[in-house]
Amino acid sequence: MAEKNSPSSDEHLLTIEDLNIYLKGKSSFLNIVEGLSLNINYSEVFGLVGESGCGKSLTALSILRLLPPNITTEGSIYFHPLKKNILSLSDDELLDLRGKEISMIFQEPMTSLNPVFTIGYQIEEVLRLHEGLSKKQAHQRAVELLEAVKIPMAGKRINDYPHQLSGGMRQRVMIAMAIACRPKLLIADEPTTALDVTVQAEILQMLLEIQKSHRMSVLLITHDLAVVAQTAHRIAVMYAGRIVELARKDELFKNPRHPYTLGLLNSIPKETSKKLEPIPGVVPSPGELPEGCKFVTRCKYRIKDCHKKEPQLIDTGDNHYSRCLRANEFIN
Ligand SMILES: Nc1ncnc2c1ncn2[C@@H]1O[C@H](COP(=O)(O)OP(=O)(O)OP(=O)(O)O)[C@@H](O)[C@H]1O
Ligand SMILES: [Mg+2]
Repeated sequence: MAEKNSPSSDEHLLTIEDLNIYLKGKSSFLNIVEGLSLNINYSEVFGLVGESGCGKSLTALSILRLLPPNITTEGSIYFHPLKKNILSLSDDELLDLRGKEISMIFQEPMTSLNPVFTIGYQIEEVLRLHEGLSKKQAHQRAVELLEAVKIPMAGKRINDYPHQLSGGMRQRVMIAMAIACRPKLLIADEPTTALDVTVQAEILQMLLEIQKSHRMSVLLITHDLAVVAQTAHRIAVMYAGRIVELARKDELFKNPRHPYTLGLLNSIPKETSKKLEPIPGVVPSPGELPEGCKFVTRCKYRIKDCHKKEPQLIDTGDNHYSRCLRANEFIN
């Protein structure tokens, strides 16, 4: 278990406990995400990091119960303000939750906006539906939202269609829509991956300003450690459907305690950089994971025991969790 997940805690907004995500095959189930547990606190930016295919988006989609029909879940996702497990909400309760309490910026923003409606119409629709605002009120609020995400001349741009905006502007519109109903949790799945580095930095900065002023929690999903380095309070590193390390951001960067995180850190450029060292090999696909530790085939610290039994995610001290038999040897 990653953390003490008391459903009565005042600190926690969301508690995921022992989440398993299965892909239904012809004759069997493939366990894509296994035993994932974490808490997201109020007003916290929580970073979820890992290589492509490790299960980040499926984890995010399961929080909003948006998984496709061939994928099922077990475990619980407790949303504290409602005092309910999201995985057992009725359809009506889910409609209230989505957008209003928890909203999401999807990994492919360019395809998430409807090309045949103006951006103003699309934001106003969200406000009329969830907040019951009149046409005029919704319009006024939509302009304010576009201003909040720093779209210049918002009163004019509100009449634009998505194709009239740059990628960065469209992403800002997505953020405006996602925060329209002041959700308590915003899930941002690779919100800046498609953008160039300068625009990426501006959008992250803007997202952080909104997070602070709205006192909103953000689950920030990325494959890029540099993105969470600038933004997150705590970080969980995923590998092959499992959390392998979880710690406060400073701790994780200063003293990583899982070889996969060490590898990720060695593969990003630093000013005083030694030679960059990519992690050898590729992530095994969910059906072909090795016995024992799932990282064993790529790990330069492996010992015999690593092949035998998968290590648990344990607290190595000060709420710094690692799923490695040799975690204590990395403590400095
Ligand atoms: N609808 C689906 N049907 C079958 N397999 C799927 C489906 N969605 C995801 N998968 C598989 O589940 C695994 C996890 O997918 P997921 O999209 O969560 O990865 P991710 O960590 O978000 O990766 P990326 O960084 O590329 O977005 C992958 O192996 C993926 O191929
Ligand atoms: Mg993804």
